[in-house]
Amino acid sequence: MKILVINGPNLNMLGKREARHYGSDTLKAIEQALAEKGKALGCELDFFQSNHEGGLIDFIQEKSQDADGILINPGALTHYGYSLHDALLDSGLPVVEVHLSDIRTREEWRRISVISDVAIRQISGLKKQGYLLGLETLVEHIRGGEGK
Ligand code: DQA
Repeated sequence: MKILVINGPNLNMLGKREARHYGSDTLKAIEQALAEKGKALGCELDFFQSNHEGGLIDFIQEKSQDADGILINPGALTHYGYSLHDALLDSGLPVVEVHLSDIRTREEWRRISVISDVAIRQISGLKKQGYLLGLETLVEHIRGGEGK
């Protein structure tokens, strides 16, 4: 089983961003924890981060045919990234949306996700643990053969 793990704009700066919202882990540390979890779950992970919506879309278009699911933190594109929404939808893959911070309790504009309707689940506010829970949820969903 192969999972695409995608991080959007500014997530390459984790560790230097507001720790009260995002925690103190770097993206590399999160990816390492995910790699260990992936190993334990018996799945292969393909990591990608870009600050550009088009870069994320190119990656999804190129890789989704050989993948079984997508774990994504779209960063601020969560709130307005309609092209990213469409690329996720067109991939036909199950998607789990993750946020380090709790977007439901922050500024009004962050409470809206244009991605959530293509996701089987949104996990928000659990910092690094949210990614690990997201991966577990996605793998269980795929193994359960629920499809989408
Ligand atoms: C985020 C929340 C977004 O609102 C923000 O723009 C991010 C990160 C999160 O992980 O909490 O860059 O997706």
